Amino acid sequence: MTSDAPVLLSRYTEQLEKALRSALCGDSLLHPVLRYHVGLEDEHGASGNRLGKLLRPSLVLFTCEHLGGRLDRALKAAVALELVHNFSLIHDDIQDKDPTRRGCPTVWRRIGVAQAINAGDLLHSMALGEALESGIEALNVLNRATTAMIEGQAMDLSFEERLVDVAEYLEMIDRKTGALLRCAFELGAVCADAPADVRSELVSFGRHVGRAFQIRDDMLGIWGDPEITGKPKGSDIRRRKKSFPIAHAFELANADDRSALTSVYGSGSIDDKQVSTVMNILERTHTREQSGAHVRSDLQQAETILESLPFDPSGKDEMRELVAFLARRDK
Ligand code: IPE
Ligand code: IPE
Ligand code: MG
Ligand code: MG
Repeated sequence: MTSDAPVLLSRYTEQLEKALRSALCGDSLLHPVLRYHVGLEDEHGASGNRLGKLLRPSLVLFTCEHLGGRLDRALKAAVALELVHNFSLIHDDIQDKDPTRRGCPTVWRRIGVAQAINAGDLLHSMALGEALESGIEALNVLNRATTAMIEGQAMDLSFEERLVDVAEYLEMIDRKTGALLRCAFELGAVCADAPADVRSELVSFGRHVGRAFQIRDDMLGIWGDPEITGKPKGSDIRRRKKSFPIAHAFELANADDRSALTSVYGSGSIDDKQVSTVMNILERTHTREQSGAHVRSDLQQAETILESLPFDPSGKDEMRELVAFLARRDK
């Protein structure tokens, strides 16, 4: 993590890294590639650290701790959620044909699609074992979230065939991204034996955070700095992804622009000229500003809910800092 990372994202890193190493130790055929994928090793098996942000497991631990629960009870659930997240990324990179993840070759590029499917399945199966150690309710919560995430992934792929509106898009990201983020808060609450009303407030909080997180991610897929994201400008347009900006532009465009979008996204690959056609439509519909406004609006709603959550003032401050970071992150 960079030095401007929020406290909440650095507090648990050491603990989580150790727990991940222990969960993924083993010498089966696929174990080394799992350690590579999560960022614990390089492609030669040398120990390293290029872990992701560990956002979801950090949120599990933070939530449990600030609701008065014991971290040792939540640690396995936190690791389980990070494993499910990483399982989803292995399969997602196959589905999206992405050659790189976190700046390195994706698992399918390294060991082929067939074995990458096995690697993802193995991570999923290991995650279930870890979650069970935090109790049957933790396993249930994780399992429901995983089911929703997979539904969201299926919806996302089906959107490649047609243009979608903002409502359909929001329904999709509530599942593909929102489910695992909400799960982080819910797992923290379960491990702290929090009352049902706190648990459901946290789920609403997670819904807004998840939405803002994915819309920001979508903005980076179009306007992100290639030097930082590692992806060319407009990469999600080239990949025909129906991300928030495209859904927004399609809804707001005039008749001519709508038919231009329909034709660009109709079939075949998208060339440079078509990318700039889409970029111009995004500009005419003020989509960049509106996307930013959506992120801010969800994060404001999250902050309102945060006020009523039973975290102490310093816990609320840390959560506010995280929320602000998610709104401005550049990768
Ligand atoms: C990436 O999630 C996938 C999305 C849901 C947008 P993260 O941005 O949390 O990925 P890492 O684990 O930090 O790389
Ligand atoms: C990834 O979504 C979400 C899941 C794997 C559940 P995307 O395909 O939009 O995210 P990136 O850009 O690959 O991280
Ligand atoms: Mg992807
Ligand atoms: Mg995807």
